[in-house]
Order: sequence, then structure tokens, then C-alpha cells
Amino acid sequence: MPDSGRIHVDFRGASSWGRGEAPAFDARDVCRQFRLERHTIDVLSGINLTVQRGEWVALVGRSGSGKTTLLQLLGSLDRPTRGEVFCHGRPYSKLSGKQRAMLRRDEIGFVFQSYHLFPELSAMENVALPALQWGWDRNMAVSRARELLFSFGLEERLGHRPQELSGGEQQRVAMARALVNSPDAILADEPTGNLDVAAGKEIVGILQRLHADQGKTIVMVTHDLALAKLADRVLLMQNGQAEPLEGDAAFPAGFGTLPPTQPS
Ligand SMILES: Nc1ncnc2c1ncn2[C@@H]1O[C@H](COP(=O)(O)OP(=O)(O)OP(=O)(O)O)[C@@H](O)[C@H]1O
Ligand SMILES: [Mg+2]
Repeated sequence: MPDSGRIHVDFRGASSWGRGEAPAFDARDVCRQFRLERHTIDVLSGINLTVQRGEWVALVGRSGSGKTTLLQLLGSLDRPTRGEVFCHGRPYSKLSGKQRAMLRRDEIGFVFQSYHLFPELSAMENVALPALQWGWDRNMAVSRARELLFSFGLEERLGHRPQELSGGEQQRVAMARALVNSPDAILADEPTGNLDVAAGKEIVGILQRLHADQGKTIVMVTHDLALAKLADRVLLMQNGQAEPLEGDAAFPAGFGTLPPTQPS
């Protein structure tokens, strides 16, 4: 996907300070506790994680190990019980809700396992909608959405609603939506989790291009070891920590609900 057609709209405002050369994400001594009626759960217990700009990090671990919780903290969709998360040098706790929203809008693209598309809107409208909500001119928003959908091989599906698309096509629309404002970083929570092997490969191919050609920072949760191994770094989440994982031998027995590694 060439950036030559990128539409530059500067709505960064207050979120532009502190970008510099700081890491994409920096989690410092991050804890997340959930209080239930009778007890509390310590999901993250003092995580330190630095994700450099342009780095691709995969988070793996058993169901319930805190992968989604960590991803949400990195994207300021949740607040830590203790500790601080920085995005491009800015500490989320020091930003207002509006500044955090602007930062998410301008610098982070979110991709979820279940796509989260609006069912009543077409592929084109789903991708253009956030840009329109940010005040883009309609022609610009449509042109950007079209460019992204074309680059993802969806030129024949612009007018289709989500229920008229395959799972892989829906995820490609969701990725186009995540990229509409050319964010530097992508946070993806099991982006291939609902897809078959072929559709998953297409999504992986897009991630690879975003990483290799455009230098996007990617933090991706996955249960697919073959996909995890494409990342620069794999972190295993367990016991409230995220530890580096190197080599197949290190994968612990009974590791979650992992499917067998798919042949490439
Ligand atoms: N809002 C919440 N309230 C209480 N407990 C929560 C909340 N959100 C998450 N948890 C608990 O925190 C733990 C980690 O959840 P999380 O969704 O991060 O796991 P995960 O590693 O993403 O799992 P999966 O692979 O199944 O998606 C789980 O035990 C979950 O029940
Ligand atoms: Mg999860």
C-alpha cells in the first residue's frame, strides 16, 4: 500500500507533543487488578515492556493470561491499577480524556478478533466513517477509504455490508478502517483468530507489508505460533508477567488452546 496517496490532515493538536524518538509504547511497572465481589484478581503484576518504533511484538499465552488486558492498557482503552504507560513518549495518566482520544485516533490503529464493523454500513462506509467523524471532507474520506480497500483487494466489495462479506474480507475492512488515519502503530488482538488458514494468511500478509514496507509498529496477540514467529520478538504472558520467548523448545507444554502450527 503506497503512502504516496496518503491524505495528510493535521488534527493532532495537543497530542503532537512528546513524539520525538521515544519508543512506540513503554509500560513501566504496570499492574492491573480486577476487584470482584469477594476477591481481587491480579492479572498483570508489574510488567515492564518497551516496544520500539517499527518493532513487531507478538504476545502469546494461555487464555486468561492477560494478553487483551495488556493490549488495552497499551492503547489507553483501560487504566492500570499501578504503573504508567507511555505512547510515543507521552504518559497516558498525564493526558486528559480528550487528549487520549486524539492520540488513539492519530497514532494507533486497533484490530480485533471479531472485526467490530457496523452491520448496517457498507465496507466503504465502515472505513470512511471514522474519518468523517473527525471532520474530514467527504471526498477525502471516500478517496482514502477507496485507496485502502483497493490495496487490500476489496475493490469489488465496496458496497457490501459486513454480512455479505467473508470473515477474511471483514477483517480486511477492519484493517482498512484501522489505517484510515495512517497511524504509526497497530494493536491487533487475535486478528486471525476467527479465520481459516487461507484468510488468516491474507491478514498476515497485510501485517507483514505494514511492518516491512511502512515501518509500522505492531503489537499483536495471537494463539498461532506460526504467526507469532513472524514478529521480531515473542513475549509469553504468564503469572502476570511478559517474558521473552525464544525458540520452539521454550513453548511450555499445554500452552493454551493453540492450534497446530500451520504449514506456510
Ligand atoms: N473487566 C474485568 N473484570 C474482571 N475480570 C476481568 C476483566 N477483564 C478481564 N478480566 C480477567 O482478567 C484475566 C485476563 O483476561 P484477558 O482478557 O486479558 O485474557 P487473555 O489472555 O486475553 O485471554 P484469551 O486468550 O482468552 O483472550 C481473565 O481471568 C479475566 O477473567
Ligand atoms: Mg484476549
